[in-house]
Amino acid sequence: MVNSLRLNEITKRFPGVRALDRVTFSVEPGSVHALVGENGAGKSTLLRILGGIYQPDSGSLLVGGTERRFQSAASSIAAGVAIIHQELHYVPNLTIAENLLLGHLPHRYGFFRRGDAIRVAGGHLRRMGVDLNPRAKLKTLSIAERQMVEICKALLRQAQIIALDEPTSSLSHHETEILFRLVRDLRKQGKILIYVSHRLEEIFELCDACTVLRDGHTVATHHSLVGVSRAQLVEEMVGRKISDIYNYRPRSMGPVRLEVKAVTGKQVARPVSFSVHSGEVVGFFGLVGSGRSELMHLIFGAARPRSGSIEIDGQRIRARHPIDAIRRGVAFCPEDRKECGIIPIRSVTENINLTARQRGGLRAFLIDFGSEFKVTDRFIQRLGIKTPSRRQKIRFLSGGNQQKVILARWLNLPNLRVVIMDEPTRGIDVGAKHEIYNFIYELAERGCAVVVVSSELPEVIGIADRMVVMREGAIIGEIPREDFSEHLALSLALPDEQVA
Ligand SMILES: Nc1ncnc2c1ncn2[C@@H]1O[C@H](COP(=O)(O)OP(=O)(O)OP(=O)(O)O)[C@@H](O)[C@H]1O
Ligand SMILES: [Mg+2]
Repeated sequence: MVNSLRLNEITKRFPGVRALDRVTFSVEPGSVHALVGENGAGKSTLLRILGGIYQPDSGSLLVGGTERRFQSAASSIAAGVAIIHQELHYVPNLTIAENLLLGHLPHRYGFFRRGDAIRVAGGHLRRMGVDLNPRAKLKTLSIAERQMVEICKALLRQAQIIALDEPTSSLSHHETEILFRLVRDLRKQGKILIYVSHRLEEIFELCDACTVLRDGHTVATHHSLVGVSRAQLVEEMVGRKISDIYNYRPRSMGPVRLEVKAVTGKQVARPVSFSVHSGEVVGFFGLVGSGRSELMHLIFGAARPRSGSIEIDGQRIRARHPIDAIRRGVAFCPEDRKECGIIPIRSVTENINLTARQRGGLRAFLIDFGSEFKVTDRFIQRLGIKTPSRRQKIRFLSGGNQQKVILARWLNLPNLRVVIMDEPTRGIDVGAKHEIYNFIYELAERGCAVVVVSSELPEVIGIADRMVVMREGAIIGEIPREDFSEHLALSLALPDEQVA
């Protein structure tokens, strides 16, 4: 049983960046220690050091009072450490059972016994209260389910130190609850837990202590969160006061820009109609899986509608392909930016200017590097993208900073008329959220019709002029800003039996 973890003066440099600078804190057994900080503050780097993926330049890790050096992931695992990384890497064709029991698959006389593996794994899953079929292949699971499998794996290995890097960023409300239950159980068992998240509500709900990192420095460690306010944590994270993160600005609206008429698709089973005015910000709220993302794909031409029509400024568009939509001034920032977003080995500049370049057709051969650099620098500054230079390959940026680059790519399109953003602030720190909201208002003030899909109700309430609520593939109601309330929105979004 490991009885303490101490990170002592950990320093880690990458070319052009000091990711961690003498970071020091301790974690008590039987407690959940939060690690917070802006995008690029060094949180994931620290967990990778704990997980043996990176070696620190200096400083030490003390596990149970003994100094440990993890030269590889295997040595960290052997010492009882389990890291649930921000981006899960997995072997798609492995079954849950195989993945869980990797390294100790049951065998008899050297033969691997599939039936036994399924039984053993199934038993483990049930005991942990996770309802998954051990025969299922990893590729068929949602991110949440894959995360659950990772956590179960850590438990099976009897890990004593478990660190989770933004585990809830793509979980639904229900899945988050299951995860929290697992984490609380682990705490009860006296494990050492580190929890990274940009959602401060979660920190207050789940964590006992908290360390704040800023630019690789330890700004503060709170041994208890009692009496610590959200505003204080925000200030420690970003180094300045943000009084109202949403900073809503009312504005005047013009004529209808985007009109969606009786559109249906695979998930959007019943015809959906709505319109958005020039200068208006409409928030789409609903549970994960309510059909919001598919609807946006249909509008953008990334999925094919079964019926219905879409008009922009009164003109019917035939968005058969995203290129058509882009030509009409429609920008769409998708939810799974990682999968359909970044080009990892290309620079920040290339990633930001990609869509704008595509517009050029033949002209694309004549790239105006000067103006691309200018645009890139403007976004780096505006969204606070943390990168040593605009030439840095995007895969070396922190998770949140990659998100910002993809967002910048879409906001960079010329002649924007309609902007659709699916979960634009997922994985993004509070300071940058604030900037993104300002950006959204600016787009609206320039006359764009803006649609923001978000699963975070406070965000929709904070920034939208009007809320559209979806449930089970249909629009179930619309709420004007003056009537916004969490209760009303939830009563529309949740299945009837769940409304209190
Ligand atoms: N392999 C690498 N090569 C170069 N720079 C890196 C590498 N890994 C991380 N960095 C840099 O180190 C800094 C810290 O990154 P890290 O991923 O730890 O941030 P983070 O706090 O996890 O941010 P986020 O909230 O966005 O996930 C960033 O500036 C990042 O660009
Ligand atoms: Mg990270």
